[in-house]
Amino acid sequence: MPKVELHVHLEGSFDAERIAQLAREAGEVMPYDKESVLSPSNLDELLTRLDWWCGLVRTPEQVERQAYDLARRLSDDGVVYAEVIVNPTHWSALRRDVLLEAVSEGFARASAQGLCDAWLLVSLLRSQTSDEAIELVAELERRPPSRLVGLSIDGNEAAAGPTGERFASAFALAATIGLGRTAHAGESSGPEGVWSALDQLRVTRIDHGVRSIEDPHLIERLIDDSVTLDVCLTSNVRLLYGTIDLHPLRQLVERGVAVTINTDDPATLGVNLTSEMALAETVCSWGIDGAIGATERAIAASFASDAKATELRRMLDVFAAQVM
Ligand code: ADE
Ligand code: ZN
Repeated sequence: MPKVELHVHLEGSFDAERIAQLAREAGEVMPYDKESVLSPSNLDELLTRLDWWCGLVRTPEQVERQAYDLARRLSDDGVVYAEVIVNPTHWSALRRDVLLEAVSEGFARASAQGLCDAWLLVSLLRSQTSDEAIELVAELERRPPSRLVGLSIDGNEAAAGPTGERFASAFALAATIGLGRTAHAGESSGPEGVWSALDQLRVTRIDHGVRSIEDPHLIERLIDDSVTLDVCLTSNVRLLYGTIDLHPLRQLVERGVAVTINTDDPATLGVNLTSEMALAETVCSWGIDGAIGATERAIAASFASDAKATELRRMLDVFAAQVM
């Protein structure tokens, strides 16, 4: 099936082999062994590791290759369009504009070769200040990286506290310059994080958002405003619920919330979109119609141009005609 992914982090696309290679190239000793480097036990540990291995990336060429390799892996998995989150705070050895342009170049090279068409969501870290957020968006307005489609927020909401008010001005500016808006919420925060993302940041979709299930009024609001939750099952099991049996995907779907299926940090979690779609099938038993529906919703919620969205719908229609 031609698939679309809206919630995948470039920082989570490093496999153990690549991390070991970057450590060698940077002359650094691995503080983790190769077997356990990709097994953080909670979100804070994951974020610390992302800082460490992204900090090993020292040149634009290494970034370009990582971006290209992710697009190629997505392609190998049948993903035809992706919006990839990049949080510059993890990449401490590189200037932000250099990083974002190198990512764009890697995606452009892949796309020119007919591989997955990948675009860029630049992400704020939860713990950044209001001024830092505004400065980032102002820079994106002055010199937009060539594959930029939107602004995002990630990091640990539980540790950084509520960020709606702090980032409201930056998100308002992002809206005026035509950027798509999304934010992680309802993962390391409860429903209040989702309310805040909707009311103060005016996002059109939520990364994770699964803890919305705890608030029936919020569920109504998500449905009324056609907000999409970009859900990542294995990530939520690993960092939040412990077991797939406790995951609320099925309840969200049954109540009529628009959900899409995504990988979050594919190499770290050892998943791809096909395996996450298969896991969603075990939870929802929604058949091929359900998988096609999730992809239709991903196209609708994407920040792709109208022409691109039309092209993606046609590809999906061709597939649907073959299998139904
Ligand atoms: N950055 C990478 N993965 C993340 C996650 N699951 N939650 C918040 N920030 C992240
Ligand atoms: Zn994420």
